[in-house]
Amino acid sequence: MKCRRCKATAIIDLPSHNFAFCQDCFIQFFEKQVQKGIEQYNLIEKDEKVLVALSGGKDSLALVLVLSRLGYNVTGLHIDLGIGQSSSKARGVVERFCNKHEIPLIIKEMEKEGLAIPKVKEKLKRPICSACGKIKRYYFNQIAREYNFDALATGHNLDDEVARLTSNTLRWDRAYLSDQGPILPADDGFKKKIKPLWRVTEYETAHYAFVMGIENHYAPCPYSSGASFSILKSVWIDLELAMPGRKFDFYQGFLERGRQAFFDEEQVKGKILSPCPQCGYPTSSDDTCGVCRIKAAVSEETI
Ligand code: AMP
Ligand code: FES
Ligand code: ZN
Repeated sequence: MKCRRCKATAIIDLPSHNFAFCQDCFIQFFEKQVQKGIEQYNLIEKDEKVLVALSGGKDSLALVLVLSRLGYNVTGLHIDLGIGQSSSKARGVVERFCNKHEIPLIIKEMEKEGLAIPKVKEKLKRPICSACGKIKRYYFNQIAREYNFDALATGHNLDDEVARLTSNTLRWDRAYLSDQGPILPADDGFKKKIKPLWRVTEYETAHYAFVMGIENHYAPCPYSSGASFSILKSVWIDLELAMPGRKFDFYQGFLERGRQAFFDEEQVKGKILSPCPQCGYPTSSDDTCGVCRIKAAVSEETI
């Protein structure tokens, strides 16, 4: 197998693109795909300040590395969830990575906010993942606002997006379908959110992370039963094997032709947001926001 660009021996075969690449040409291909994804939907410009949410996993580390190599102005943000060894390991990986690549890093500790995840889990007595997701999104936005960033970027790749789209479609969830895509523009106290890896697959991202020497730390969260959307992801592995390229076409087709139908309806309906009386975070609730309610529940039962 020869590299499509330089005819050296290929090290990776990408049937969905009908290409094979050697290592150097793969790196160029991957970075070009990310740049193309950014330009296709005007995610960010070079003079914008981008806060990149870094979990310690390969996707978000690959994301911040590729953005910085493409010349974007990036700063990392790690939310230390306070889940014992799992969190300290993730935090260590992020700290070493940012140090090595001279990427500025902000760390926000949930312990100090009274929101260490094990404590929240104990008090809430319901599945923790949705509360944890809510807490993370809250601090992503809060820190982006506090430090005046133009955008918040996460490491979601094409497989994540397609699995989410499939899940939203199976439920015909109009609100989620109208919002899904590589960019959610700034709105009513919310900073712009972007997913620059939307054109590249999990496999391509893992390969990029590997060839770029990104430390492979995989410690799944002890509270999660596995990767999110794992059943839908495995269905897509079979589909893609039988029909190479279908995954990307499905997602791109949705962005170009499907999403608009749901978007119009949601625009008409509109969402009314007002600042949380306690913390100022935009919320559709008449009362305090979701995270202030979690904080109250945690401290109430402690007293
Ligand atoms: P997940 O929902 O765990 O697949 O994570 C999706 C994205 O959210 C990751 O690619 C990161 O960009 C971000 N993220 C998840 N956990 C954290 C964390 N503890 N700190 C900062 N960013 C995170
Ligand atoms: Fe949030 Fe596991 S519950 S990462
Ligand atoms: Zn609040």
